[in-house]
Amino acid sequence: MTHVLRLPMPVVRHHGTGNLVARVTADATRLRSVIDVGVVQLPLAALTVCATVVAMALLDGVLVLLTLASFAVAATGIALILKHVRRNAIAQQNATGTLAHRFTAHLAALVTVKAYRAEARIGLHLGNDAAQVTRTSMAGARLLSLITPVMGLGQQTAMVVVILGGGARLVDGTLSTGSFAAFLLYLLQLVGPVTLIATGVGRLQSGIAARARSDALLAIPTEPYLGPSDTGAEAVPVPAPAAPAAPAPVPVPGAPAVSFRLVSVHHAGSASPALKDVSFTLPRTGLTAMVGPSGAGKSTALALVEGFMYADTGEVRVLGRNVRDWPLSELRRHIAYVDQQFTLVEDTVRENLLLGHDGPMATPRLRDALESVGLLGDIDALPQGLETVLGREHDLSGGQRQRLATARALLTDAPVVLLDEPTSQQDGLNEQRFRAILDDLAATRSVLVVAHRLSTVRDAQQVLLLDGGVLDAPGTHNDLLARSIRYRELVRGQTGRPA
Ligand SMILES: Nc1ncnc2c1ncn2[C@@H]1O[C@H](COP(=O)(O)OP(=O)(O)OP(=O)(O)O)[C@@H](O)[C@H]1O
Ligand SMILES: [Mg+2]
Repeated sequence: MTHVLRLPMPVVRHHGTGNLVARVTADATRLRSVIDVGVVQLPLAALTVCATVVAMALLDGVLVLLTLASFAVAATGIALILKHVRRNAIAQQNATGTLAHRFTAHLAALVTVKAYRAEARIGLHLGNDAAQVTRTSMAGARLLSLITPVMGLGQQTAMVVVILGGGARLVDGTLSTGSFAAFLLYLLQLVGPVTLIATGVGRLQSGIAARARSDALLAIPTEPYLGPSDTGAEAVPVPAPAAPAAPAPVPVPGAPAVSFRLVSVHHAGSASPALKDVSFTLPRTGLTAMVGPSGAGKSTALALVEGFMYADTGEVRVLGRNVRDWPLSELRRHIAYVDQQFTLVEDTVRENLLLGHDGPMATPRLRDALESVGLLGDIDALPQGLETVLGREHDLSGGQRQRLATARALLTDAPVVLLDEPTSQQDGLNEQRFRAILDDLAATRSVLVVAHRLSTVRDAQQVLLLDGGVLDAPGTHNDLLARSIRYRELVRGQTGRPA
């Protein structure tokens, strides 16, 4: 699971969260369910078969060869079946993954699904996915059920061959009646364990396929701990506890907080670039506002600073170092980030506030942070206050979640603060409160805020106007008002008045 948490964001999006959950949970369960077969039943059955064959060989070598030849014919048929069983096991697991992914995604959008009365429609789609799971499972059951009759056929053949061969050897006196009877008894005893091996190997296929899927998942490189220029090679995934051997890079004194130089980037699967030759610099302290229409590339720019994705061309530097050279955990330690969805984790308010801290923090500090974003009263009103688990019975409103996410960023001492539309859901009072927070933060840190509100943008030392992935020359609000038609349009859209 830690491996999955460490996968790069584009990889997680590509596989789908539900699918990854299915691989970690259902595949692991499948693997465990066949452990008894692989570890206990099969070795025991194999031992019994070996011992019986040795005993039979001591009675009559020729008859043993005839027996083995008969079973070999059946084994060839079974090998063929097992090949299909393995293929079917992979198809079953893929179908389960697809179903789990869609179901998880639809559950995440349940409010919308209900609001648009789409339960039946979505249920139909899920039903199709479930039917695919049923089809592959039925095919798998049919294949497995073939094993016993094929084995039975092998046994019948062996019986006939041994009776004929044994009879002939009885007549020519090379085999005694007692030995022949004992041989037949051993042959009957052989059938049970041999069938057990055949069906056991069949059942093992789903475990082997689950193991292959799990290995494939583990083979996907995690986010690189070391950047390529550190190693001179491909980024090497190293689990965090083992890192770092060399001292972690430190910020370059006096370097800008963030700098973009001719940065272009595509999202995977997207034909047009989200950013085109974007260059700007954020000073070590002060407020920079990023504005632009929806889809302009604002969140993408923040994702590049956070190392969620890397530029196709150009260079992104944070605190003087190329983002590719920062160990990601160190890079992110230097950045406080409030994402556009102001995500909370399903845990207590305290744990939500403490994300980004390795140890505990005194309650008064947490309360101060909540107070400064105007959330203390709301949290105190929850049944267990700071210890209330958010996300199930108790949840916060959109604006409250946004303020909790801001309080979380305030509690870090990160020198770079990235806020992606942090006031999109705030009322006028909280908007004003937020202005004061921004000023406080910007006095000692570099703050980049994606904002639409004029009140935030007006006082920023620098405004970055992005449009269609292209950045206008940075300037102040007044500079841009004076020279940019696009900016004037945006401001007019905000105020309803000509700028
Ligand atoms: N995960 C993704 N996969 C593919 N394309 C994406 C992805 N995320 C964003 N894009 C595309 O990249 C472009 C920039 O998106 P981005 O999220 O950076 O815009 P934005 O300026 O933050 O918009 P908004 O104001 O609506 O949040 C858009 O055209 C969008 O469709
Ligand atoms: Mg955005």
